[in-house]
Amino acid sequence: MKTIDPCTLVIFGAGGNLSRLKLIPALFRLEVGGRLPERMLILAASLEEWSREQWIAEVEAMLAAKYPAGYDQPAFERFRNRLHYHPNPMGDDGAYGRLRQTLEENPEFPRNAVFYMAVRPSEFPAIIDRLGNVGLLKQGNGWRRVVIEKPFGYDLLSAQTLQQGLYRHLNEPQIFRIDHYLGKGTVQNVMVFRFANILLEPLWNRHFIDHVQITHSETLGIQGRADYYEGAGALRDMVQSHLLQLMALVAMEPPVTMAAEHLRDEKVKVLKAIRPITQNSVHAHAFRGQYTSGVIDSKTVPGYLEEKGVSSESTTETYAALKLFVDNWRWSGVPFYLRTGKRMAENASAICIRFKNPPQDLLRHTRHDPSRPNWIMLGIQPNDCMKMELQVKVPGLELHTRTISLDATYRKASEEEYDAYEGLLLDTMLGDHSLFLRYDEVEWAWRVVDPVLKVWAMEREFINGYQAGSWGPRGTYRLFDRDDQFWRHSLDIQGADLQAY
Ligand code: BG6
Repeated sequence: MKTIDPCTLVIFGAGGNLSRLKLIPALFRLEVGGRLPERMLILAASLEEWSREQWIAEVEAMLAAKYPAGYDQPAFERFRNRLHYHPNPMGDDGAYGRLRQTLEENPEFPRNAVFYMAVRPSEFPAIIDRLGNVGLLKQGNGWRRVVIEKPFGYDLLSAQTLQQGLYRHLNEPQIFRIDHYLGKGTVQNVMVFRFANILLEPLWNRHFIDHVQITHSETLGIQGRADYYEGAGALRDMVQSHLLQLMALVAMEPPVTMAAEHLRDEKVKVLKAIRPITQNSVHAHAFRGQYTSGVIDSKTVPGYLEEKGVSSESTTETYAALKLFVDNWRWSGVPFYLRTGKRMAENASAICIRFKNPPQDLLRHTRHDPSRPNWIMLGIQPNDCMKMELQVKVPGLELHTRTISLDATYRKASEEEYDAYEGLLLDTMLGDHSLFLRYDEVEWAWRVVDPVLKVWAMEREFINGYQAGSWGPRGTYRLFDRDDQFWRHSLDIQGADLQAY
């Protein structure tokens, strides 16, 4: 295990949702697991004029909400000693000077510092400016790192502008851009699956793979986040970030080593090789939709336009699907189909890889059903699994075939599940960038989706609807290259007889 330098973790927006639901519980779990360095303090910065004791009471309430059955009290006694509070009221510029005094003059606080921006994206440039202006981002007397969360801009131009602002005070190694998807164990498993097994490498290319599908579907709606989601939509919210990262992991070349820069170099090469979607071809490559009222878990749920804070004329997409090609030697001509949606039939994230048919269909006279190709499927959530579909002979005197699924679940019942934020928080303290985005990845991902965003922004009259609880708008079949390609909704054989949309 690598050792972590003594450090202070400063959380801006410590009273907000990200901190309540993810960061504080993840830090507490790290405490329980004995993974936090002995000399490490958590300095919460938030708008409220709380005392340290009030903040500790807040943290207890956050943990009680997260663990209603109770939590490890001895671990909490250790955790409470790490907790400090810094009031940071709006418009109080002196607050940053006082923060500098605390971090640089109070010997209790380790000089190395991580500044975690758990605030709205619109707020972090100003916070970083202020930190920079009081000299808190200068390294020398200890390292200084900044963690920011997506979205990194809302299009290519704004991402570039944001970046210029960051570079005024920070250099690239100081910046940790979180894509929490990369913190999921099953997402990292894509790399292990590919690079720790020789078996698949000869098949992992255009000669054997027919197409790749990457899906993230959710039954939840926008959960009161209309102010953010109205300006974002599914393409920005999920595809530009998480799904393109998954695609890069599936398509990248083996890196020289697993070092952060080598990994990120290979991912960027994939993003650069994605064939640009011209404005004229947006409709052949992209499809969007918006949920209407429907039934989920036997309950009627409202449509997107009825959600609080959503304009009744909104054409913001809650479903987005893309067809992309990677123009390089390995993938030339292989379509990658990406899709995501809110209020869909199931919560499911998976990578499904369909192989080509054998060059000759020797068994066609012995079968009732059409021939089925091989699939490899990597379930990301809710079930982390790997499945492989193959054809076998049905027992009996006749030569009939059927599909079987080799089904491997990675996690044993005794193995614990970790939240993505636990590993990511440790990595920021360790200074390991492997699971964080480098700026060029962000920029190239914007280049992929930008033309689609531009065309959709002009088409404000109409958007296809889909009923909440369904698998999305019917028209998306348009994206497929051939009639025998269709969305794979289920990783089970039973459900693999799919609807043609
Ligand atoms: C976030 C998006 O980045 O990822 C959300 O903003 C989405 O809209 C979420 O629901 C999905 O991630 P997870 O880990 O909850 O499946």
